[in-house]
Amino acid sequence: MRVLFVCLGNICRSPSAEGVFRQQLLQAGLDGLVDVDSAGTGPWHVGKPADSRATAAALQRGYDLSALRGRQVSRADFDRFDLILAMDHSNFADLKALQPANSRAELDLYLRRYQLDEDEVPDPYYGGADGFEHVLDLLENAGAQLLNEVRGRL
Ligand code: 4NP
Repeated sequence: MRVLFVCLGNICRSPSAEGVFRQQLLQAGLDGLVDVDSAGTGPWHVGKPADSRATAAALQRGYDLSALRGRQVSRADFDRFDLILAMDHSNFADLKALQPANSRAELDLYLRRYQLDEDEVPDPYYGGADGFEHVLDLLENAGAQLLNEVRGRL
């Protein structure tokens, strides 16, 4: 199974989602069975490491984002991935517009898929440190649900 997380810049939310979920897969002993990646709808941070605030907040919880580099989502991703999970409504709309008509990938809004209290992972880029903690709280909850789903699909 192949899962792609998508946000706007691919330096805050989606790399955090990837790092959290990779760790959850590892702890569940399922890391070899699921391909995980992340990408951004925007081009600004292609080739760049994750945001230093996101990296530091993640590392404090045991998630290592240091190897991740930004990339922009492309139409080919709709062939490469089974499940593409958007962080907010705007990312979802951009992905919907990009999705080829015959694409086999399933596109969804990450938090809505699991009916968590919030629909969106809010963009922490222009805010303070608490925004990054909130992002990680949401992603840990959603990741646990996604792990359950993956277990059922393998
Ligand atoms: P992300 O956050 O979508 O969670 O990676 C952002 C990062 C950069 C920008 C916007 C959002 N930016 O405008 O450069």
